[in-house]
Amino acid sequence: KTKIVNIEALDEAALIDLEAAASLIRAGGTVVFPTETVYGLGADAMNPQAIKKIFAAKGRPDDNPLIVHIAGLDEVKPLVANIPAKAEMLMKVFWPGPLTIIMEKAVTIPTEVTGGLNTVGVRFPDHPIAQAFIKMARCPIAAPSANRSGRPSPTQGKHVLEDLDGRVDGMILSSDAELGLESTVIDMTVEPPVVLRPGDITLAELREVLGDVEVSSNVTQNVVPEKVSSPGMKYTHYSPKGELVVVKGAPEEIREKITRALSHHKGKPMTIGVLASDETMDFYREGFILSLGSRNDPKEMSKNLFSRLRTFDELGVERIYAEDIPLNNETLALINRLYKAAGYAFI
Ligand code: TXA
Ligand code: MG
Repeated sequence: KTKIVNIEALDEAALIDLEAAASLIRAGGTVVFPTETVYGLGADAMNPQAIKKIFAAKGRPDDNPLIVHIAGLDEVKPLVANIPAKAEMLMKVFWPGPLTIIMEKAVTIPTEVTGGLNTVGVRFPDHPIAQAFIKMARCPIAAPSANRSGRPSPTQGKHVLEDLDGRVDGMILSSDAELGLESTVIDMTVEPPVVLRPGDITLAELREVLGDVEVSSNVTQNVVPEKVSSPGMKYTHYSPKGELVVVKGAPEEIREKITRALSHHKGKPMTIGVLASDETMDFYREGFILSLGSRNDPKEMSKNLFSRLRTFDELGVERIYAEDIPLNNETLALINRLYKAAGYAFI
């Protein structure tokens, strides 16, 4: 049974609950905790048996490495073989925050954590409860997103419970995640550095600090990647139960394309959903219509994506038509998740 504690603020009662959660970690257990990006499923990064429980709870392939979470700049050194000067610059500017930095791993980090790689991703989350929890655990905490493998990442406590209730030892339930998309992942073992996963820390912000930064081709191409540089890239991701299709074009065109697609559909009528925006949602007539947020507010849309996909599931939607989103520096991460969730299906 999962021991759930609810913590909104770090008052005295919360510290007692946090200590109980931290002691589960020290005993080799698994505990879900909130971060500013999505909920994480944590275990002691130095304990291989504990790490195996994470993979089992998620149903995650064991070659997909985990991010190691810390709560202070002085905690990086024991985890890595060396800290590249440019990586140190990133830490100073963006930590604590939604940035995962890949560096060469220290020999002491179990290979279970890194999926056999000789590198490790390190992140210092910008969330007071996550920080207090890591400090109290007195160990680095390995944590992937707290969803069943292949499902949308959890931005709300109820998403975690849908996927993992009874499969993990503990959970710190708190407010909804502020950002809603997982951290930016940057590989600092190569020159120029390469962004493996876009996130709230944008390419433009990284280039301001680092100069030249590349983006993995797996992020930019609109096809299912074949050659992978981050093991997580090759697996299906973020998928709702319904079939998700991205529809290109202006709203008029999108509406027409949906009507046409439905007229070609044979057999029992489908329950459909449309993932629109505040500006366009009144435009659609058919099915369940949900707004991702305002088109002028990429942060709001990013925060809502995973939760909307799960809402369509709750509504029993069998096919979701999602409006395409114009690409720019602020929407790259959102588009990356949307396309992956759709398995790169477009009309
Ligand atoms: O915001 C986040 O990063 C959340 C919260 C909980 O911190 N965590 C998260 O973890 O999203 P996860 O495991 O769901 O995604 C980690 C991604 C995976 O795609 C994984 O393959 C990649 O980072 N990754 C981790 N370590 C890596 C490494 N050493 N080299 C290349 N890619 C790595
Ligand atoms: Mg994940």
